[in-house]
Amino acid sequence: MAEKKAFVTGHPIAHSRSPKIHGHWLKKYGIDGSYQAIDVEPEDFAAFLSTLRDNGYSGGNVTIPHKETAFALVGRRDEAAEAIGAVNTLWFEDGALWGGNTDAHGFAANLDEHAPGWARNGPAVVLGAGGASRAVIHALVERGVSDIRIVNRTVARAQELARRFGAGVSAHGVEATGELLMDAGLLINTTALGMHGNEAIAADPVGLPDHAIVTDIVYVPLETPLLAAARARHLRTVDGLGMLLHQAVPGFERWFGIRPDVTAELRQMIVTDI
Ligand code: ATR
Repeated sequence: MAEKKAFVTGHPIAHSRSPKIHGHWLKKYGIDGSYQAIDVEPEDFAAFLSTLRDNGYSGGNVTIPHKETAFALVGRRDEAAEAIGAVNTLWFEDGALWGGNTDAHGFAANLDEHAPGWARNGPAVVLGAGGASRAVIHALVERGVSDIRIVNRTVARAQELARRFGAGVSAHGVEATGELLMDAGLLINTTALGMHGNEAIAADPVGLPDHAIVTDIVYVPLETPLLAAARARHLRTVDGLGMLLHQAVPGFERWFGIRPDVTAELRQMIVTDI
């Protein structure tokens, strides 16, 4: 059988860790396949998509700045992509180009692995109202979290998301953070604040109850200032690297036919890179 090919495309794309993750799995499972990073300028993205099949690709990943464009251009979309409004995974099925979103799965699977039972932990406070926040809120809703409080610098964006997701999701300005944390069981940073080179997010986990779990989608550094403060407070913390690893699983399975494992070995390989 011919070699199976997949890709990740973005602009820029050189920083992507996806080729390492998929390359590790291809080797581990002895698959005759390849996964390459392809830099595509926004104006060339539609043409790139239209030639995928002729170029022999089984599918691929899509990242910034193409996620919303991919959402608009694919023939079919899965439920997560519809809910989130962005596509990060492409594949062919029944003659159509499908677009899915695996970020919500990645978020939930990371917590399943490192903080089992997390979804029953009570009200969730979500910091941020951008694209990553949409994926996180979709995961929370899917897992039955019934009180989701979005906190954002620009309240209007939080309100727009709360409307989009409906009952149980509320919008707040940053000044309400302290009060909202007092009875929260989950605190999630979905902004890039706390990433290496950025300022830390202005949320103090000290006021959280003792059973609370704090997690961050940022994974450079692995321990963000928010997670360090939560750890100092003896709260359970989950870093963002597992979300990156787990979001890669469904795509690999679609293109190469094997559901790969997220192992400590894979994690260590990527940590060494960070
Ligand atoms: P992404 O798609 O990666 O989530 P985004 O759509 O640009 O990125 O969203 C970035 C999020 O980080 C937003 O919630 C943004 O708040 P605003 O909606 O008020 O812009 C938040 N953010 C970015 N820089 C911030 C800062 N300095 N202080 C507070 N929030 C910030």
